[in-house]
Amino acid sequence: MLGVQYPDGLDWLERRLDDIESGRAQLWQAGLGKFTSGWAIVTPKGNHDVKLSTMYVAPGARGQGVGRRMIEAISAEWHYRNIFSARVTFDEDDRVTRGFFEAVGFKPIPDSRRQYGARFDRAYLLDLSSPDLLPVATNKRRVPCEFALHRFKRFI
Ligand SMILES: CC(C)(COP(=O)(O)OP(=O)(O)OC[C@H]1O[C@@H](n2cnc3c(N)ncnc32)[C@H](O)[C@@H]1OP(=O)(O)O)[C@@H](O)C(=O)NCCC(=O)NCCS
Repeated sequence: MLGVQYPDGLDWLERRLDDIESGRAQLWQAGLGKFTSGWAIVTPKGNHDVKLSTMYVAPGARGQGVGRRMIEAISAEWHYRNIFSARVTFDEDDRVTRGFFEAVGFKPIPDSRRQYGARFDRAYLLDLSSPDLLPVATNKRRVPCEFALHRFKRFI
């Protein structure tokens, strides 16, 4: 899938995994029961900005609030670390991913369209410059399951 959407997608993923191994990026993991249900890679960009390099919830775990809670947990850490903005890019025709990032507070960045073959990515920004802007926990769709979030690497 990654290799289809992005011509050099697998090389890109190798580089992000190297970043995690060397501590240049964080890997966040969400767990539902005994299973990993989602993960995200966060790459610092300077002292106050981060790139959400990727975020993925397993198809069988979607629509249960895992993605929202993962963003809430990660953004609480961003706030703690004085991160003022988080950026993410995704396929502009992916309505589900767009609906998700808009629902948790990301806004489209003007003039950020970038072409990959026949399709386009667009960049979105989460403004964290004030505590009021942090995504807030909702009690909607709390599924009867455990939720755990693990951080394997810290910012250097
Ligand atoms: C986008 C994604 C992370 C959402 O995860 P999720 O756990 O299913 O999302 P949640 O259940 O937490 O939903 C949170 C919000 O997103 C929105 N959302 C979720 N699924 C949606 C859908 N199918 N259509 C529209 N909006 C949707 C809703 O507004 C929802 O808000 P609510 O909780 O108030 O109802 C998941 O679908 C995914 O991994 N998709 C592939 C992502 C991808 O391509 N990543 C690479 C680029 S970063």
